[in-house]
Amino acid sequence: MSTTPSQEAKIRVRLSAIQYAARDTHLYEFTRLDGAPLPDVEPGAHIGLHLPNGMMRQYSLVYSGAAPSRYVVGIKRDANSRGGSRYIHESLRVGTEIDIDAPRNNFPLNSEASHTVFFAGGIGITPIWCMAQKMEALGRSYEVHFATRTRVEAAFVKELQALKGAKQVHLHFDDEQAGKFLNIKPIVDAAPAGSHMYCCGPAPMMAGFEAALASRPKEFMHVEYFSAKEEASLGGGYVVQLAKSGKEFTIPAGKSILQVLNDAGVFVSSSCEEGVCGACETVVISGEPDHRDAILSDEEKRVSKTMMICVSGSKGGKLVLDL
Ligand code: FES
Repeated sequence: MSTTPSQEAKIRVRLSAIQYAARDTHLYEFTRLDGAPLPDVEPGAHIGLHLPNGMMRQYSLVYSGAAPSRYVVGIKRDANSRGGSRYIHESLRVGTEIDIDAPRNNFPLNSEASHTVFFAGGIGITPIWCMAQKMEALGRSYEVHFATRTRVEAAFVKELQALKGAKQVHLHFDDEQAGKFLNIKPIVDAAPAGSHMYCCGPAPMMAGFEAALASRPKEFMHVEYFSAKEEASLGGGYVVQLAKSGKEFTIPAGKSILQVLNDAGVFVSSSCEEGVCGACETVVISGEPDHRDAILSDEEKRVSKTMMICVSGSKGGKLVLDL
C-alpha cells in the first residue's frame, strides 16, 4: 500500500522559482504562502499539483528531509502528455499560487541495504537523484545507472558526477551508443546478492529491469512507473456497492469504477487515472478485484485489502468498497 507521511490536506503554495535542468526539463520550486515549514519528505515521494486549469498531476520531489522550507519537482515537457506538463511549461509563472497535496510515497527507499543499485531513464532520474543524495549523506554503498536518449536531455548530470560516495555513476546516452538502450541485465547480474535495486523510467526500461530481476527475490526490486503498466480492467458487467450508503452501481463495459462514481457525483480522490499515483486507492470490504495498477505488490494484490479504482475492476462478482 502506498504511504502518506503526512495526512495534511491541500496546502496553498507559491511557485517561487523555475530553473532550467535539461532540454525540455525545468525544476519548479514551491514555498508556503505563510513561510511555514512544509510536511516531511521521504526519498521517492511525490506531490500532487492542482493546476489552475483544473488538471491534477503528480511529480516526484528532488529533495527529501524534515520540515523543508520548499518543495522542488522536476517536470519534463512531454509531447505525448495529456496536457499537464505542457500547461505547466507554457503557463505557470513565478508567483502563481496553487494548491498541492502533501507528499505521498509509493517508492520508499530501504536506506539500510548492504548495497543499492539505482536505474533511471529520462525524467525518472528525479526520485532516483533524491534517493542517491540520501545514500550519499548516509555514507551507504550504492551505484547509479542513468540513461537518456541524448546528453542534452539528461538532468542532474553535474550533481551526479560530483557524488563522492557512489561506487559508480554510469551515464548512458542512446545516441552515443549507436542508438542502443542501456543493457540492464549484466549490471543486475554483477550486483552482489542482497542488493536492493530501484528503477524509474519509460516502459521499455521498466520491462527490461523487471525481466533482469525475475530470478531475484521480489523484496529486492523496487519500481516506480510514470505511465500505465497494464491495460485498465474495462470489461464491466459487475456491481460495485458503496458500504457507507449501500448504493449499488453496475459498471458498464468501457468504464472504470472511478468514472462511474464520478458520473454519479460520488467524489473519490484521483489524479493520474493510470494506476501509478495511488490517489484513488480504496479499501475493499469484499469481492475479488482485478488489479491492473503499478503500485501494489503481488502480495498486496493477493490479499486485496485495497485497490486502485481508476484502472482495476472485478474478476466477476460484486465488489463492496469502503466508500
Ligand atoms: Fe492515480 Fe488511480 S488516480 S492510481
